Amino acid sequence: MDLARRVQKLTGILDVAKALTAERDLDRLLARIVEEAKRVVDADRCSLFILDQEKNELWSKVAQGLGTTVLRFPLGRGIAGVVAQKGQVINLPDAYKDERFNPAVDRATGYATHSILCMPMLDHEGRVAGVLQALNKRSGAPFDVEDEELLGAMGGQAAVAIQNALLHEDIQRLFEGFVRASVVAVESRDPVTAGHSERVAMLTLGLADALPRAGATAGPWRHSALTDDERVELRYAALLHDFGKVGVREGVLVKANKLFPSDLEILRARFDAIAAALETEILREQLTVLEQEGRGSPRLAELTARAAARRTEIVELWNFILQCNKPSVLAEGVPARLGEVAQRTYRDMAGVSRTFLTPDEVEVLSIRRGSLSSKERLEIESHVTHTFRFLSQIPWTRALRNVPTIAYGHHEKLDGHGYPRALSAEAIPLQTRMMTISDIYDALTASDRPYKKALPREKAMEILRDESRRGFLDRDLLAVFTEADVPMLMKKAT
Ligand SMILES: [Fe+2]
Ligand SMILES: [Fe+2]
Repeated sequence: MDLARRVQKLTGILDVAKALTAERDLDRLLARIVEEAKRVVDADRCSLFILDQEKNELWSKVAQGLGTTVLRFPLGRGIAGVVAQKGQVINLPDAYKDERFNPAVDRATGYATHSILCMPMLDHEGRVAGVLQALNKRSGAPFDVEDEELLGAMGGQAAVAIQNALLHEDIQRLFEGFVRASVVAVESRDPVTAGHSERVAMLTLGLADALPRAGATAGPWRHSALTDDERVELRYAALLHDFGKVGVREGVLVKANKLFPSDLEILRARFDAIAAALETEILREQLTVLEQEGRGSPRLAELTARAAARRTEIVELWNFILQCNKPSVLAEGVPARLGEVAQRTYRDMAGVSRTFLTPDEVEVLSIRRGSLSSKERLEIESHVTHTFRFLSQIPWTRALRNVPTIAYGHHEKLDGHGYPRALSAEAIPLQTRMMTISDIYDALTASDRPYKKALPREKAMEILRDESRRGFLDRDLLAVFTEADVPMLMKKAT
């Protein structure tokens, strides 16, 4: 081989090496190595086997002609197994003349192996990381020393790249496992929202994927396609967006009515005591009348009627309180009436005078809308800050470094009235805007709480449209969400 060609081939290997170190996707990397190795030694086929140190096995994902099924076999078996075990090259002009060659593969695939060049792939410390095997030199001649040299050089570069990719896969698996575990943690805290994180992640990615296909509908986002890394980043952010709920008291998280169940229980017991006290009071009066005026006294009947009226009144008061306890919008005048009820007193068993309602109860029952007091609302809202703090503690890889920021903005509104930071539109990234739409959609349509009705799709879309008209949500992204019918796409995908 002349010098010029040799230099050209070696330069080619360097180029490949550069490309290989940049490739972190293992499948693509293996396919690329096999392709380049084939080209470098001018072989008809090429296979790559990776050494599994723990199991003492070789495995292959890319064995050309065999598809991409994973093949495993023990160290020492076949040509590749021997090469991996001994760390030495095997170069056979005619495979069938060597007893280490296993003709079963040829029989299974219908391929006819002639020459084989099988090289150990050595990492930078000289340890065997795998095996590169080239079959049938195209010229028909055996592989020569120069092929050995070239394939060896390729193998060295490939080994390092593969180790990097495997390490990268390990890191990904680690993050994946960690994210899954976190989702389990938050959803076991608030089981009624189970599945919310996963659905928000699916809807958000569905929207992100619809974006490049949306054309003019996407408006300024027309050319915004996410990279693979950005998709993973967005998925993690969506899966973990509500993680901070683990920092919110469970009672507040699942609060259906204004009073906590235990507080309502106390109130109920008090009203029982009030009813009993009134009953006793009237009985006492009746007894006095009976003793003083005898059975025929008209006051007796009067007292009986008064007792019945009082009983009815207490039942009505109790029903009124139950009504106030519901999260629906409070009618005009209700807080004033609650104030009046609170003023009323009764005597407890010890004869101590007590009010029907405590000031705290009046305050809670006077919540104008929903079930949460302003303090509790703030506590729920704090989940976003908890999420951000938690996510910021994690040493994300460079490719995933925006996970905390993307999740942090999921309750912000484009008009600057969201929480917790009241960000302006410019400060809310595309990824967050997509997640916000998905989050609201799922919150509206999920049948996740016994006391909350799941809205039908059309009604939810109407609310989203209204929010975008009022400048809260991204109009263009919502248009893509609607046009591509992302919820339906997601349903089909599952
Ligand atoms: Fe949230
Ligand atoms: Fe959410």
